[in-house]
Amino acid sequence: MSAATPLIQLKDVVLKFGDRPVLDGINLAVRPRDRLVIMGQSGSGKSTMLRLILGILKPTRGEVLYRHLRVNRLSRSKLNRLRSRIGMVYQYSALISSLTVRENLALPLEELTRKPEREIDAMIEEKLAMVGMSGTEDKLPSELSGGMRKRISLARALMLDPELILFDEPSAGLDPVISSVIDELIINLTEQTNTTSVVVTHEMDSAFRVATRMAMLFEGKIIQDDLPENFKESTNPIVRQFVTGEVEGPITEGITSHADHSK
Ligand SMILES: Nc1ncnc2c1ncn2[C@@H]1O[C@H](COP(=O)(O)OP(=O)(O)O)[C@@H](O)[C@H]1O
Ligand SMILES: [Mg+2]
Repeated sequence: MSAATPLIQLKDVVLKFGDRPVLDGINLAVRPRDRLVIMGQSGSGKSTMLRLILGILKPTRGEVLYRHLRVNRLSRSKLNRLRSRIGMVYQYSALISSLTVRENLALPLEELTRKPEREIDAMIEEKLAMVGMSGTEDKLPSELSGGMRKRISLARALMLDPELILFDEPSAGLDPVISSVIDELIINLTEQTNTTSVVVTHEMDSAFRVATRMAMLFEGKIIQDDLPENFKESTNPIVRQFVTGEVEGPITEGITSHADHSK
């Protein structure tokens, strides 16, 4: 497969919750080794897009492709096999608070593979070293800082050596310094392992640090899909307002949901 063949494709994807189209005709391709940052306001459908890629949600219309696989038509067992190739880093880390770091990291392997304990331990050690958290196996999430928990959730996403990692708001709840450290880690790890990634965020500093490509979601549509440098120079007033964080502009506080002015 050539490097230009997309790993993921969304084709004319419409997703409605009830009558409301949260996504309204999305076309997007993620190519191998992209770090695609999807930007958009809170409630614009970013997490929903990740759930579509994972096959947790099915589009109302259109197709989600993973290589040649139609994600929205896979059987349960094929979907599980596909998910074992995708790592997910959830917003606020989502570690299980009653389990140690070791137990949290072992979960994806125990659920999706049949590896002996010794092999699992060796993999845990390797992934913890990759995220700079060696020796924390016996800690509980509550004994770690927010940044450390984020590192552990990154290690968990790496457990099955994924070819794709999805990050939902990786810097949510972290202070600016820690969030730039996490951004660096995302860049280093994805480059080191040749992993493709999709990063969802509404934080511009983080977006420009991490992205090799960007897409902006607004009112159910991708209004720009481009290189980061072109986003900085964008002439689209919505993109400009989002990138610069200005109060005045076409983006309002979501008082008008986009369902209100859809055709
Ligand atoms: N399971 C669901 N049922 C109904 N509405 C939902 C569901 N999930 C998300 N939504 C709505 O869809 C919109 C997009 O949500 P989401 O993808 O979580 O936004 P974002 O991640 O960009 O903040 C929001 O208005 C949200 O309330
Ligand atoms: Mg979200």
